[in-house]
Amino acid sequence: MPSNVPRAISITAPPTPSHEVPILDVDDTVTAYWDYQFLFVSQRAEAAEPINLRLVEGEIPLDFPSGTYYLTGPGLFSDDHGSTVHPLDGHGYLRAFTIDGTNGQVKFMARYIQTEAQSEERDPVTGKWRFTHRGPFSVLKGGKIVGNTKVMKNVANTSVLRWGGRLFCLWEGGDPYEIESGTLDTVGMFDVIKDDRKKMSDVEGLKVDVWDVAAEILKPILYGVFNMPRKRLLSHYKIDARRGRLLIMSCNAEDMLLPRSNFTFYEFDSNFKLLQSQEFIIPDHLMIHDWAFTDSHYILFGNRIKLDIGGSMAALCGLSPMISALTVNPSKPTSPIYLLPRNKTESINGQNRDWRIPIEAPSQLWVLHVGNAFEDKHHNGNVEIQIQASGCSYQWFNFQKMFGYDWRSGKLDPSMMNLKQGQEKLLPHLIEVSISLDKNGNRHKCCVNDLNQSNKATDFPVINQDFSGGRNTYVYAATTSGLRQALPNFPFDTVVKLSTIDKSMHATWSTGRRRFIGEPIFISKGKEEDDGYLLVVEYAVSTQRCYLVILDSKLIGQNNALVARFEVPRHLNFPLGFHGFWDPREQLEFHNKIEKRKPKHSVKPVRGPPLVASRRRRRRLREGVRGTRRSRTRAGRGAALPRTRPYYLAGRGAGRWVFLPSLGTVAAAAAARQARSGSNQQRTGAQNEVSLCLSKSLVLGWERIWAFAVLPFGIKGIKD
Ligand SMILES: [Fe+2]
Repeated sequence: MPSNVPRAISITAPPTPSHEVPILDVDDTVTAYWDYQFLFVSQRAEAAEPINLRLVEGEIPLDFPSGTYYLTGPGLFSDDHGSTVHPLDGHGYLRAFTIDGTNGQVKFMARYIQTEAQSEERDPVTGKWRFTHRGPFSVLKGGKIVGNTKVMKNVANTSVLRWGGRLFCLWEGGDPYEIESGTLDTVGMFDVIKDDRKKMSDVEGLKVDVWDVAAEILKPILYGVFNMPRKRLLSHYKIDARRGRLLIMSCNAEDMLLPRSNFTFYEFDSNFKLLQSQEFIIPDHLMIHDWAFTDSHYILFGNRIKLDIGGSMAALCGLSPMISALTVNPSKPTSPIYLLPRNKTESINGQNRDWRIPIEAPSQLWVLHVGNAFEDKHHNGNVEIQIQASGCSYQWFNFQKMFGYDWRSGKLDPSMMNLKQGQEKLLPHLIEVSISLDKNGNRHKCCVNDLNQSNKATDFPVINQDFSGGRNTYVYAATTSGLRQALPNFPFDTVVKLSTIDKSMHATWSTGRRRFIGEPIFISKGKEEDDGYLLVVEYAVSTQRCYLVILDSKLIGQNNALVARFEVPRHLNFPLGFHGFWDPREQLEFHNKIEKRKPKHSVKPVRGPPLVASRRRRRRLREGVRGTRRSRTRAGRGAALPRTRPYYLAGRGAGRWVFLPSLGTVAAAAAARQARSGSNQQRTGAQNEVSLCLSKSLVLGWERIWAFAVLPFGIKGIKD
């Protein structure tokens, strides 16, 4: 690693020559290493009020579905007392991009998650940081080392979810934090599985053995001394779109140390009512980050781990990160895949297959992320299961060197994330796992193939979520162009679109030089699987800028794939995010919150999106339904809403709304009529707008004339 590469740098500090990125004509290796450091630069500033992002290229198309893209990840890597932390231990920094498809604007907000750890480590008066929690992947230099039992540092930095009208930030090992969606204020920790704690969950495979005794000895230490939660929620959840369910999974705290795993699966309806929970005890030492589901199964890829005695001793003494107590276990040449029954009361395929017996994939495979899984049941009783995922080699994966972070030096060494030519297959890449079960549930076939013919490092597979749990054709992911001489494999700089049918398909969109991307996310706008847009954040490290990029998913691979690029102001530039969530419903509530926060008696022109959802739409949102069959069928064909939005003069007076509609009210009614033949999203926007006009106009006397004027059009629009 070049010696002149800096450690984590605060970009909010006044720029000094030592913080500037080197110019391009220096040695390419040095530039590449420098660039990588700037992906993990701390951002201490927040954007508590929404700001408009500057459009620098293209424009948002009229048919873009309005909504909010949430992206979470770490925001802080160094404190004010000399300690640095692993990127996985950085305090959660939530970013929200609210996209208004009708007026072509993007508003941006960013807030730290106010976790318990943050309240201890950040001085509320001075804003100074002092890390006191070790975190699982870090060693403190400026804080207490020996005897520091603050290991489980829930920083809520890994994934984000909107469900049941609530917004959450999740972490791999604790309860999620609930966030107020309009302000990004932290509400507090949310006990997702409280209903399950009240009752004994159904335990599969329970038997008393030596590991039960060991677990009972460990529990008071883990719970009492290390303050670990009994159930460790995983950050990766699943949404069964067809059933309208949220699926989450937990492990037991003692699973980290024992060769036995307790996996509990929970299924919630759209109102967060717990529908079922099942616990499975598997006699193996496993590490699960992501998992899959089908109509009948929960699917676990058993990444095998083992306890490192030497590492455990060093970790307990504070000399190494706690994660050094674990290491990968390549003792077996195969990889276990557990097919766990989603409903234990129903036999699968007429047979009760023993789920304790894993399907052994023929090679070692460390699975990182799952894109999708589905199953087909044939008339002869056979079952075909297919899983699309990203995986890497046991030879490459290393707990202590993820993201290239060297806890000894506190520096990032990206060479670990890159390998020499010819070794690319050890790096993360996309795979397709095919499993065949005969009518008796016995394994007939299990094979692992590359999802496509590319040998470039690839991760973060995503699909159109409307197809989650069902058969899909397209997979999108982050990959590399391979054009950089130094560090050709990571960070990623390319979005790839793959087909599960046409294996030769490898359509890509790449950023420019010295620009990188995070996880892409798909936004559906029509009935075809790839009819939609891709969102991805682009990190232009050479200019220290972040951009929100919108791509046309159908045009990936062509020169005109880029739809729009919005620039985040430099003072709000942020580090690499982890996982995101697209909430098409967020627009309404977001702007309601903004309206409520405006000072009373102020009179400001309000230009914007609908504030009130129709009753039918609200019912759909509660039930998690995207649209009726009729509306979905009509989606995508029809006229777009007018680009010009109506203006309103709004404010508060005498405790009630004073609302003066302009001619835009009539325009809204016209829009409703026009959108009647448009997509579901367009129709909903127009209906909301007419609802708004009617409800506000009826408040004041003389405005009722406007209400009567638009009533025939409005009601017709709403009813449709
Ligand atoms: Fe992940």
